[in-house]
Amino acid sequence: MCGIIGYIGKKDAFPILISGLKRMEYRGYDSYGFCVLKDKETPFLYKKTGKISEAEETLLDFKVEGSLGIGHSRWATHGGVTDANAHPHFDCHKNIFVVHNGIIENYKELKEKLIEEGHTFVSQTDTEVLPHLIEKYFEGNLEEAVRKALKDVRGTYGILVTSNADPDKIVAARFSSPLILGLGKDEFLVASDPAALITHTRQIIHLEDNELAILKPNKFFILKEKAPTFITWDSEEAEKKGYAHFMLKEIMESPETIQNATRGRLIIEDGSVKLGGLDSVSEQLKQIKRLVLVACGTANYAARIGKYMIEEYAGIPVEVDVASEFRYRSPILDKTTAAVFVSQSGETADTLAAMREMKKKGLLTIGITNVVGSSQARETDAGVYTRSGPEIAVASTKAFLGQLSTLAMLTVYLGRQRGMDVTEGKKIVSELLRLPGLAEKTLERAPEIEKIAEKYQNFKNFWFMGRKYHFPIALEGALKLKEISYIHAEGSAGGELKHGPLALIDENIPVVALCPDSPIYDKMISNLEEVVARKGKLIIIATEGDKQIKELTEDVIYIPKTLDLLTPILSTIPLYLFAYYIAVLLGRDVDKPRNLAKSVTVE
Ligand code: AGP
Ligand code: GLU
Repeated sequence: MCGIIGYIGKKDAFPILISGLKRMEYRGYDSYGFCVLKDKETPFLYKKTGKISEAEETLLDFKVEGSLGIGHSRWATHGGVTDANAHPHFDCHKNIFVVHNGIIENYKELKEKLIEEGHTFVSQTDTEVLPHLIEKYFEGNLEEAVRKALKDVRGTYGILVTSNADPDKIVAARFSSPLILGLGKDEFLVASDPAALITHTRQIIHLEDNELAILKPNKFFILKEKAPTFITWDSEEAEKKGYAHFMLKEIMESPETIQNATRGRLIIEDGSVKLGGLDSVSEQLKQIKRLVLVACGTANYAARIGKYMIEEYAGIPVEVDVASEFRYRSPILDKTTAAVFVSQSGETADTLAAMREMKKKGLLTIGITNVVGSSQARETDAGVYTRSGPEIAVASTKAFLGQLSTLAMLTVYLGRQRGMDVTEGKKIVSELLRLPGLAEKTLERAPEIEKIAEKYQNFKNFWFMGRKYHFPIALEGALKLKEISYIHAEGSAGGELKHGPLALIDENIPVVALCPDSPIYDKMISNLEEVVARKGKLIIIATEGDKQIKELTEDVIYIPKTLDLLTPILSTIPLYLFAYYIAVLLGRDVDKPRNLAKSVTVE
């Protein structure tokens, strides 16, 4: 995982940059680079694949002079591991030099536009758009040009910028990827990790999101960008793209939603994940003994699945609560507990109130959020964007899949900090890579699902049930049907049916059962038998190849086989389509169901 270091002061910068990057080697990287400025001379620029510690002697033999410099260790996300793709990247005239941690999500469109405007690119990285954008806006003041350039950018960044066209300063800016200033005696440092600073100073300042710092030899400034929350959507994305409803479009976007959540974050070779937004709290997370996951509605069901994932694969006890309850009871919390808030909008009043309460209690707060720059994203100590893109329909669908994908990555992140070995991590991470394709295959079942919806459109009550990872999916399936078709639906754990709800079951209340291949498949079959014995009608979500299940009902929707903890991401899709088709058949206002709001900003 990448690292950034900058120095401005009275000493030679180069040895400081080298030792700073070496102190961050533990984070993992594939290449490195430096830029050192000395008066008006041509800057020293060096970048290479490989490890710094293996080349330290050679590097120090360069005898580089200059008391201002920036350095970077790269963990590639866009563009292969090559010398040219290593940082610093520079503009057309090699006057502006940039190192970057993070991902510029809209780099493709920016790059196309810059090339049209005559800029020449020499790398395949997303980062290289930054020096060219700064060059485009540069009129003599570097920080002004950086400010303007960042307004065009969508994504995450921690960057350092220097230029011999406006020398004697380093401009630093951050959004989601950490940057820390080190205040030394007649010198300033800036790094992505305190480990690179502590041999020079223990006086540090964490840059906040949307802050921009200007470091000069004897003073520094921090500008708080009050840039408007940047709508990360373009008009095209926020349109229906030919679908009858936003909800259908968003269900059909399931594969790319999973892809967007995981892109650049899966480290296959060592079975781990890179969640840049957690870098600043990774040490704290290693010490956490317990998690509390807090959310509302659909996001709460995602949190419940996150509980199963994290407890089973990371070995941390997890408590889940609905935000509106959590803040009014007296949860037992201490500093070894971290609170994770899951929210598509990042503006849900109940969730925000619970989060602010936890911050007051001094707990580490983590946000799993879709909307960039939302209150939750800005106010939690750290977090991970689900990157699901615009979700316009009131009923949350793809955002839920983005949350589950992100919770699966969080599970690996926490697990690999603890007992999860490389093999286990690789298994989950490589399956996450396959998942968009499996979601694509699941969506191909849409015509069958539409037929089943037609068959059941006139029933007035439904029961949903599932076990373990699929109990919260049963709750989510019931919620989706309720909120867009106005049909009464309830969800329960499969094992709970016999403890009362079975009294409801007869031919008038169809049961939607999640019964994929899993260690508790046989238990679920018993629950299905209980339904059939009372003349109940079954609609079953099962794993491809399961012929036996057809003995219980003809209405089976098959999903591809995947790991137990990832199956919910696939099994939810048929439930969304089922609810959607029924609501359309009933002539409901699918995208704007009565009484509901997309973001519940009141308590
Ligand atoms: C889900 O379909 C609903 N629209 C609702 O339950 C929603 O999930 C809940 O209000 C939480 O919203 P959030 O994810 O934006 O916090
Ligand atoms: N996205 C940039 C790249 O691929 C930066 C990666 C990093 O954070 O190191 O070069």
